[in-house]
Amino acid sequence: MANKLILILSAASLLLVSLELAGVAATTTHLRFYMHDIVTALPPLYPVATAVPTVKGVTLLPNDPINRFGDTYVIDDSLTEGPEADSRLVGRAQGYYMFASQTDPSLLLSANMVFTAAAGKQYNGSSVAVLARDAILDAVRELPVVGGTGVFRGARGYGLLRTHSFNLSSNNAVLQIDVYVQV
Ligand SMILES: *[C@@H]1O[C@H](CO)[C@@H](O)[C@H](O)[C@H]1NC(C)=O
Ligand SMILES: *[C@@H]1O[C@H](CO)[C@@H](O)[C@H](O)[C@H]1NC(C)=O
Repeated sequence: MANKLILILSAASLLLVSLELAGVAATTTHLRFYMHDIVTALPPLYPVATAVPTVKGVTLLPNDPINRFGDTYVIDDSLTEGPEADSRLVGRAQGYYMFASQTDPSLLLSANMVFTAAAGKQYNGSSVAVLARDAILDAVRELPVVGGTGVFRGARGYGLLRTHSFNLSSNNAVLQIDVYVQV
């Protein structure tokens, strides 16, 4: 399959890059997964909404008939190995995003990416925290990694987020995420 999750491969084939930084060895781990941001449940593939609007803004964004400055969604999105709805679940993105610009469709995305054993036994229960500006129409958005837990304790690094697909009528999106973390 084209979209293999790098982190589920055996330890030997993990993409690990060793860096020598002033005598301190750091290891960069590359994780690729897909985030399913489901605003509208579409059974049977997506039985429940995982992105739930909790705050509605007052003023519509320019040239946008739907989104308002301040609109906020709490998310518990599934993270999978590949982009398909039934692809193997490897974790969840838990947090929220909010329309944080008065002029552009740009979000503040604040979330923990929490991994299960399906992501690789050593990652079970570990998480990566991201705090990002997500300009949703940009081809590539950068996700600063601000920390982590478990094997990712004290992590730093970044992610790259790309829209894999977006359904204009349901507002559901599948996002490709590549995370590069150093611990
Ligand atoms: C993963 O962690 C959960 C929660 O701690 C635990 O119940 C489960 O047995 C673990 N799975 C594996 C394969 O280690
Ligand atoms: C897009 O969403 C609509 C419901 O709003 C649904 O009927 C349709 O199947 C979806 N399209 C795809 C490709 O998932």
